[in-house]
Amino acid sequence: MEHMTKAIVLTGITTTGTPHLGNYAGAIRPAIAASKDENVTPFYFLADYHALIKCQEPERVRQSSLEIAATWLALGLDTANAVFYRQSDVPEIMELTWMLTCVASKGLMNRAHAYKAAVAENEQGGENDPDKGITMGLFSYPILMAADILLFNANKVPVGKDQVQHIEMARDIAGRFNHIYGEHFVLPEAVIDEHGATLSGLDGRKMSKSYNNTIPLFEPEKKLRKLINKIKTNSLEPGEPKNPDDCTLFGIYKAFASANEVLEIRQRYAEGIAWGEMKRVLFEHINDHITPARERYDALMQAPEHIEEQLQEGAIKARAVSAPFIKELRKAVGISRISL
Ligand code: TRP
Repeated sequence: MEHMTKAIVLTGITTTGTPHLGNYAGAIRPAIAASKDENVTPFYFLADYHALIKCQEPERVRQSSLEIAATWLALGLDTANAVFYRQSDVPEIMELTWMLTCVASKGLMNRAHAYKAAVAENEQGGENDPDKGITMGLFSYPILMAADILLFNANKVPVGKDQVQHIEMARDIAGRFNHIYGEHFVLPEAVIDEHGATLSGLDGRKMSKSYNNTIPLFEPEKKLRKLINKIKTNSLEPGEPKNPDDCTLFGIYKAFASANEVLEIRQRYAEGIAWGEMKRVLFEHINDHITPARERYDALMQAPEHIEEQLQEGAIKARAVSAPFIKELRKAVGISRISL
């Protein structure tokens, strides 16, 4: 009943990679802060069905699910308030996916960015078949995502800019369903988080696993230092004034520092701080920031049964909402036992 009055904020994390500093500053940290807000019920889930769309390495999907769950718990996700679950533990998602597939127009899916990008790549590569290598999973991915969202009648969906189109598609699909079968779904809204920072990676491009330039969040201390030392800088010498605003090191530092600390470092750039020194400062700063959570992370990774337990509890909470709702939806579409 509580859920009726609180806003539902829902987001999924695709389980194909290891959480990195960019994920942390951009999405995880704001989501965890939001999980403590008593006025919302957050639904956060491991999108393992989504992982299958991009990744056909079972071990990687398994390992990523474990790492992502451990990361969120280690960072203090409030599981008393938030519902934290694994998508595949909620079978109603799959069932709703089919119901929605039967009202979603194919033309709408043809316009999805991810699908269009894959087609464009084939065409540019001189392929005769524009759909070469494109699975139905990729094609209907927005419908699976709509099911994730609509099943819990989410009001707000925090996502990156690249996902906004999918939320619009979810609204479109919800509207069609409501039009045909009566008002069952809330129309969700995308929220682009303003607090989230976008970090650059080792090579200066946006930190992203697709560029292979990430700094994993809970890398052991020694490796963290090594990676930070690898970050690309320009060739200005010690003593030469440097511009912090086009510097990857500064960008990362800023995401982890107070306003005063940022000012101080700006001053040191003006004074010509050496890159080696700035890398040391950055390492110390991030390491201090991360160490307590890394200790909790390592402990959780040693005791995965605690992680599983939390996910099972989350699934029970999620299904307490989804199971009765899918019953209502089955009835609405005419799938039911013969009434005697
Ligand atoms: N597709 C999203 C991404 O790649 C992850 C995701 C899956 C999601 N289901 C969702 C996000 C539902 C928000 C709501 O980032």
